[in-house]
Amino acid sequence: ATAWTLPDHPKLPKGKKVAVVVLDGWGEANPDEYNCIHVAQTPVMDSLKNGAPEKWRLVKAHGTAVGLPSDDDMGNSEVGHNALGAGRIFAQGAKLVDSALASGKIFDGEGFKYIKESFDNGTLHLIGLLSDGGVHSRLDQVQLLLKGASERGAKRIRVHILTDGRDVLDGSSVGFVETLENDLSQLREKGVDARIASGGGRMYVTMDRYENDWSVVKRGWDAQVLGEAPHKFKNAVEAVKTLRAEPGANDQYLPPFVIVDESGSAVGPIVDGDAVVTFNFRADRMTMLAKALEYADFDKFDRVRVPKIRYAGMLQYDGELLLPKRYLVSPPEIDRTSGEYLVKNGVRTFACRHGHTDGTSFVDKVIIETVKFGHVTFFWNGNRSGYFDESKEEYVEVPSDSGITFNVKPKMKAVEIAEKARDALLSGKFDQVRVNLPNGDMVGHTGDIEATVVACKAADEAVKIILDAVEQVGGIYLVTADHGNAEDMVKRNKAGKPLLDKSGAIQILTSHTLQPVPVAIGGPGLHPGVKFRSDVETPGLANVAATVMNLHGFEAPADYEPTLIEVADN
Ligand code: 3PG
Ligand code: CO
Repeated sequence: ATAWTLPDHPKLPKGKKVAVVVLDGWGEANPDEYNCIHVAQTPVMDSLKNGAPEKWRLVKAHGTAVGLPSDDDMGNSEVGHNALGAGRIFAQGAKLVDSALASGKIFDGEGFKYIKESFDNGTLHLIGLLSDGGVHSRLDQVQLLLKGASERGAKRIRVHILTDGRDVLDGSSVGFVETLENDLSQLREKGVDARIASGGGRMYVTMDRYENDWSVVKRGWDAQVLGEAPHKFKNAVEAVKTLRAEPGANDQYLPPFVIVDESGSAVGPIVDGDAVVTFNFRADRMTMLAKALEYADFDKFDRVRVPKIRYAGMLQYDGELLLPKRYLVSPPEIDRTSGEYLVKNGVRTFACRHGHTDGTSFVDKVIIETVKFGHVTFFWNGNRSGYFDESKEEYVEVPSDSGITFNVKPKMKAVEIAEKARDALLSGKFDQVRVNLPNGDMVGHTGDIEATVVACKAADEAVKIILDAVEQVGGIYLVTADHGNAEDMVKRNKAGKPLLDKSGAIQILTSHTLQPVPVAIGGPGLHPGVKFRSDVETPGLANVAATVMNLHGFEAPADYEPTLIEVADN
């Protein structure tokens, strides 16, 4: 059994209000014209950076520091918030799938055995994001899965692709589809009837998240399951090239298409007896499809036809909902997160809501926009939906604008989020107020540099609202980020020079980066002797959890990554 009681911190007091602010997609990079944070007016973040050097520092937010396979892997919100919340580095989905494929164990597992039962009489469908981004999925893993499944008896395979352009360069979809087509044609030479069956851009087809817009999933369902889409093509390379040629088109938002045979019939609708694997390892953007595929009771859209299939996720996407029931690789077991510890170590007397007056409530208020809703809850809490203790936590959702790309409204809901955070701090009911400000990331992903500058300014203004409230309540703030994005908007060569495309234009970087992110602490409630330690070697996001526990007056559990702070005797 877990000993949940945290030791008291020898020097830091309890009872301070702590605001934990996560700027999404806010890294540190050289100041140039493609660094939107540098270009934007960001006086608040600038003042943190240029203030006391022992209160501002950089930490790693990518690669092995957050459990990714290698240091060439950029950070992302899933692994970033996992590390921030869990205080330890867990081998993440990308890495777990790599090992399961390398050892071949993936093919001996329960999940694979289950879908294999369909190989004799049914089709194996693979659905997921087709790129080498390594955030949600990786093409080389799909290739190994195709190889392994066909060697183990899959005779008919259909791949339903989602084009990326968000974790990788826009336009790279064509190359990924060509690579996949080449693999499939090699399988066909070996007698496997393997084809791409449908496709669409990830942001418009299938990969919505946090139930923001079910019509996205429906468009995918129609193409993948029903074999119906507004665009029909004979092959997928032609499909992607043609659809990309439309004015304003890009990989992220390609409309849905199906591949049809000579007679015009879709080549790969999903029917009774088939097997389906969703090959994304990351959960947030596959959960909605998983529900549509798995739930008998489902009312989010009219599925029209619900095939009886054997379905497995690459991973189990939600450990709380046990969704999906079958999966090829077990997800990281992220347990004993800081959120759970803090809830179980409450000492606040007046911090109760809904009439609870047990005198031991640690109340944790979490505020986010819908597009990032799960980040500081689901991911922060170790890929767990729901509350640890509903009486002590309140998760407030500010609805996102839906149906637009965020370069149109780059300020998003930053002010609303900040005002809710402010109100929560001023209310006195909460010991911790945690927010995610999504602007730098969500607008950065659109590749619109001007809009991203506006986004960064908006995030900075939101930080001000929160820090002012911290000031008013005599609290403490910790401001950080989950990974880089807005600080570098151009693809660079090894020497750091912007790369140009064939027409001489710079290649816009819509994705995250490998950059470190800031951690800043302060506020009137911060013990004056607190400063960042100089003896923590190459700290990363996982060191933040112990730090936050200290700010609440607790020592972190022994196996947490070390705290970033120490308290000088003065
Ligand atoms: C997305 O899902 O939007 C991107 O692939 C990753 O962005 P996030 O990790 O910031 O959510
Ligand atoms: Co992002």
